[in-house]
Amino acid sequence: MIFKKQFLVSLFLGAAGLLYPFSQTFSQTYGKNGMVVSDHYLASEAGIEILKKGGNAIDAAVATAFALAVTHPEAGNIGGGGFIVFMKSDGDVTTFDFREKAPLAASPTMFLDENGNIKDNSNHRGLLSVGVPGTVAGLYQAHQKYGKLSWKEVVDPAVKLAKKGFPMSWGLYRVALRMSDRDDSWDIMKNYFRGADGEIVTPGELWKQPALAKTLEEIKKHGRDGFYKGKVAEEIEAYMKSNGGIITQEDLAKYEAVERKPVSTKFKDFEIFSMPPPSSGGVALIEMMNLLEAADISSIEFNSTPYVHIVAEAMRRAFADRAEFLGDPDFNPEMPVNKLISKDFAKARFQNLDMNHASPSDPSKYGQLYGGDHTTHFSVTDKDGNAVSLTYTLENSYGVKMGSSKLGFIFNNEMGDFNPVPGVTTETGQIGSDPNLVAPEKRMLSSMTPTIVAKDGKPYLVIGSPGGRTIINTVFQTVLNVLVYDMRIDRAIEAMKIHHQWLPNQIVYEQNLLSPDTKAALEKMGHKLRPTTNLGVLMGITFDPELGTWVGASDSSSEDGAAKGY
Ligand code: DON
Repeated sequence: MIFKKQFLVSLFLGAAGLLYPFSQTFSQTYGKNGMVVSDHYLASEAGIEILKKGGNAIDAAVATAFALAVTHPEAGNIGGGGFIVFMKSDGDVTTFDFREKAPLAASPTMFLDENGNIKDNSNHRGLLSVGVPGTVAGLYQAHQKYGKLSWKEVVDPAVKLAKKGFPMSWGLYRVALRMSDRDDSWDIMKNYFRGADGEIVTPGELWKQPALAKTLEEIKKHGRDGFYKGKVAEEIEAYMKSNGGIITQEDLAKYEAVERKPVSTKFKDFEIFSMPPPSSGGVALIEMMNLLEAADISSIEFNSTPYVHIVAEAMRRAFADRAEFLGDPDFNPEMPVNKLISKDFAKARFQNLDMNHASPSDPSKYGQLYGGDHTTHFSVTDKDGNAVSLTYTLENSYGVKMGSSKLGFIFNNEMGDFNPVPGVTTETGQIGSDPNLVAPEKRMLSSMTPTIVAKDGKPYLVIGSPGGRTIINTVFQTVLNVLVYDMRIDRAIEAMKIHHQWLPNQIVYEQNLLSPDTKAALEKMGHKLRPTTNLGVLMGITFDPELGTWVGASDSSSEDGAAKGY
């Protein structure tokens, strides 16, 4: 009897031992033939289905992006803009810039009252804050050039999700309650989450979006012209005209996405590729990686006081340079991008690093407030070794919260990313430098940092995040965690992050993840500290050379996010 019991116990332990490795890897997903990691599990599945049909990473990315416009409408969009970094299986890297543009009728002082102050938050509220959307043009251009499947096939999953509906989640339901009952909500938001019976769709019930399905059908049938010309463009102009907006059919017809060369640097055995201006993300990321190389970061313990100090000082310098120099390259031909991403510049920039004291941040010399999580990033890889890193946004959550109910989508409020008051830079982080002032057809400076790190000419890490200015820093620290601290992708995403953006002069840190001793030591050095609950919603993929497989992880702060592999 006793023998039998012992036998059963050891059998149980043996089984538990066998299961142990799996329980260790619960937050990572493996896929030999491809991986999609996004803010919504159905969008990740849409991408995987396209890969299974023989599509490549670009096909899957386009399908995922359109699906997120249906399932993750706070940031997934057709009314906003963003960036793609694409690494082809032959090792070549390119990018697509589909950032929104200022309308033809825009001007540098369009948001100011007679005293030169921002009028009624108009750079973020109301239709003046809407930039000419770029998403459909960008996805179309990338697909035309590099897609394998037909356009119709890659847009179709989103059309089906909008038409047939998908289960309302608790996260969306919480927003639905908040938005639908607000007196000041525009019609589109009041009715956005309601079913045909006029009631708010409850968790688990199917949420259908018939108006959005029709708009997506137009795009599916006519490609980019389905959005920038014809019925949809006519309705956009009509809605703008009757609600105080300035975007016209001419603005829409003129919008073009641009393929640009990535910014890159070598770091250890790796090559880092990221988004050039009009995003500041890649330039700042590379500047910071170079600064940390100059400071020999490999010899410094993760999360120690010197680690936080050096990382914060690198951020301070990169954000000051961002404020002084960066804007739309088509309007700033003299931008010193090559200098800012050079190793020599990093060495010189860190010459005044004092390991015992925080440096000053001086607004008269140059540095907007950091943002929330209202952008969305996803990463895609395929069986041939192509990789896509895509971040796109409406700026605030649900953008300007306005749009035509006939079209079923919401407009961005991206004009808020321009410097709003020429010449005025403040301690609180408002910036007034020239490179990013409003001008007709100009792209506003972004912080989005879709990034691909390569090893031996093949994708090794595909990463990005939402979070306004914090994006640059959370991507930066995740890259460091993988490249310097050898963390596996889920740990690298979840590990403690900080944020410094020059102005305001403070280190924002994820509370409970920084030790009390380190905090005390940093304060003694002159750093101001401010706790926050969460930084970043990172979606990442790494390649495990030993297993020869993609490994994906979605940030635990994304309620509906998922890594899907196959
Ligand atoms: O392009 C940018 O940098 C911002 N519009 C992103 C906004 C974001 O991540 C959410 N935060 N407010």
